[in-house]
Amino acid sequence: QTIALVGAPTDIGAGHRGASMGPEALRVAQIAEKLHARGLDVADRGNLHGPHNPWLPPVNGYRHLAEVVAWNQVVHAAIHDELAHGRLPIMLGGDHCLAIGSISAVARHCREQDRKLRVLWLDAHADFNTATITPSGNIHGMPVACLCGNGPAELVAIGGHAPATTPDVFRQIGIRSVDEGEKRLVREAKMAVYDMRHIDEVGMRGTMEEALAGMDGDTHLHVSFDVDFLDPGIAPGVGTTVRGGPNYREAQLCMEMIADCGRLGSLDIVELNPAFDKRNQTAKLAVDLVESLFGKSTLIRA
Ligand code: ARG
Ligand code: MN
Ligand code: MN
Ligand code: MN
Repeated sequence: QTIALVGAPTDIGAGHRGASMGPEALRVAQIAEKLHARGLDVADRGNLHGPHNPWLPPVNGYRHLAEVVAWNQVVHAAIHDELAHGRLPIMLGGDHCLAIGSISAVARHCREQDRKLRVLWLDAHADFNTATITPSGNIHGMPVACLCGNGPAELVAIGGHAPATTPDVFRQIGIRSVDEGEKRLVREAKMAVYDMRHIDEVGMRGTMEEALAGMDGDTHLHVSFDVDFLDPGIAPGVGTTVRGGPNYREAQLCMEMIADCGRLGSLDIVELNPAFDKRNQTAKLAVDLVESLFGKSTLIRA
């Protein structure tokens, strides 16, 4: 199977500029070369194009809604095309609003192929805000809500099926920052949230066993990897750091257990912001973890 790298260089949904440099930072950290060295077939499709970031204040609770819609339409089309041709797409973000486009494409592909969907949302944040409760208007805080039908019609209907999916497909891992109004919505949706307290109490191993449970040979697994999932001590190159995230070993175990389940069908790498980084260390760390996600391990395992 071919892995297709799809760059989406924009910070249109973010509160800090610079996630637009994420795709290039991942290429500089040799994401293609490292996956190729694992014996995988990798095709870099280059970057998608969309509107510039006008950097304006929110209107009716959303910043840059029209531009976010345009970017997500382009992402949806590109990711769906790769899946339809049997490829495993990796979206190189870009901020996390782009998961509306990528995950709606994955959900559409699953409907077309009559497959089940599971989404692992690796993040410090639940990204379940709406226009009325958002503290920022930044749409990168809203993708999960939009994918589940709680958002502006233009975003909820990306890909033509509204809503794209439902809360039960999600497993959120590493969460440690949920806004006040957002907490109520997460609870009402019965979102499966494995927050940092859960990881503290049962460990990363127990958490991942729960998050990966119940998949079968017909399940497509999508991983949406917001790099701010990681503890900022090891991953400073993101716009919205929250202390107390998974450490290096916990993050490695998380990725290795996903690899072991053998179901990975698509991936987002988002929120990487080289403007906050030093010597591209966060991109290098993300690539190191992605190697584990694609099966790199210390020993040959039974
Ligand atoms: N909850 C905050 C907001 O809605 C931060 C969201 C951060 N999201 C992200 N994908 N980094 O503004
Ligand atoms: Mn598939
Ligand atoms: Mn986040
Ligand atoms: Mn996020």
